[in-house]
Amino acid sequence: MDDTPDAPRHTTATLLWIRRWSPRLLSFRISRERGFRFVPGQFARLGLFKENGAPVWRAYSMTSATWDEHLEFYSIVVPDGAFTSRLEKLGVGDEIMIEGAANGFFTTNRFADGRDLWMLGTGTGLAPYLAILQDESTWLRFERLIVVHCARVTEDLAYQDEIAALRDHPLWAEHGHKLIYQPVATRETVPGALHARIPELVRDGSLEATVGLPFSLADSRFMICGSPDMVRDTHKALMDRGFRLSRLAAPAQIAVENAW
Ligand SMILES: Cc1cc2nc3c(=O)[nH]c(=O)nc-3n(C[C@H](O)[C@H](O)[C@H](O)COP(=O)(O)OP(=O)(O)OC[C@H]3O[C@@H](n4cnc5c(N)ncnc54)[C@H](O)[C@@H]3O)c2cc1C
Ligand SMILES: NC(=O)c1ccc[n+]([C@@H]2O[C@H](COP(=O)([O-])OP(=O)(O)OC[C@H]3O[C@@H](n4cnc5c(N)ncnc54)[C@H](OP(=O)(O)O)[C@@H]3O)[C@@H](O)[C@H]2O)c1
Repeated sequence: MDDTPDAPRHTTATLLWIRRWSPRLLSFRISRERGFRFVPGQFARLGLFKENGAPVWRAYSMTSATWDEHLEFYSIVVPDGAFTSRLEKLGVGDEIMIEGAANGFFTTNRFADGRDLWMLGTGTGLAPYLAILQDESTWLRFERLIVVHCARVTEDLAYQDEIAALRDHPLWAEHGHKLIYQPVATRETVPGALHARIPELVRDGSLEATVGLPFSLADSRFMICGSPDMVRDTHKALMDRGFRLSRLAAPAQIAVENAW
């Protein structure tokens, strides 16, 4: 949460497009200033005004490509949430504030090496991976790109068609075979989807077995994004297997981002 009373430097963007996946999940696009740059995996701070005129700022991972003219985001709707209860009432043409610079270190340059990029996400924790998967260097650098998206029910597994279409993107079509998408639904049994929380799937080996790719210190690199509890438990499950948090000064295998 970020309730800073005001942002140091911000501009006002226009809401260009809204897609409602379900009553509690939506995507939206806003206009982008030419000077707004980001690295895939980073987030922006978006601001809306409350009825009393005070701004409320929240962090949002970009889901769009670095070259898109707009910025796209994937959002939960929290019924009484200070930001999202207002966001969900907006329409195309309305205004949203955005801080002048992108933030964050949840980027693939956290890893010095590696062969298999495991992108583990729950709920809207998928968001940063959508930008990372629209970055040509991701496709060139890794041999396997494994997206593991975990939600309560399949209705919440958004962006499946968009992820599948990335395989045929002209910039990296010859590498399209590298992408593996593994859905997980914890409160529904669905053919093709795993049916347990990610930390458990890591601990009991069923994620590796289902994807057909064993974890190894030399080859596997993990990005973890989701609720703070999910990030903590997944991180712990991987640490118990010998993997370590990657830092710029000491590159290793794991990068984490709490989705709130
Ligand atoms: C680095 C970073 C990146 C983020 N990226 C995104 C993003 O891409 N998409 C997005 O929807 N949110 C993202 N968030 C969360 C976002 O900043 C807000 O918390 C969220 O939009 C809800 O705002 P709110 O004011 O309505 O509710 P808040 O008062 O912020 O949150 C109320 C409660 O709702 C729950 N909650 C908050 N966010 C989520 C979520 N994303 N999924 C499930 N439950 C949640 C938590 O229990 C929280 O305590 C990110 C947060 C951080 C720190
Ligand atoms: N109004 C509605 O209809 C409705 C419906 C769903 C959710 N909500 C609310 O919306 C908010 C967000 O829900 P969400 O489903 O997007 O996010 P979420 O509760 O974080 O769940 C997303 C996925 O993460 C899993 N998960 C939760 N905690 C975990 C942990 N500690 N470790 C590993 N995995 C974990 C969940 O598994 P589990 O299924 O095992 O929890 C689920 O598969 C919640 O506050 C919820 O109450 C409302």
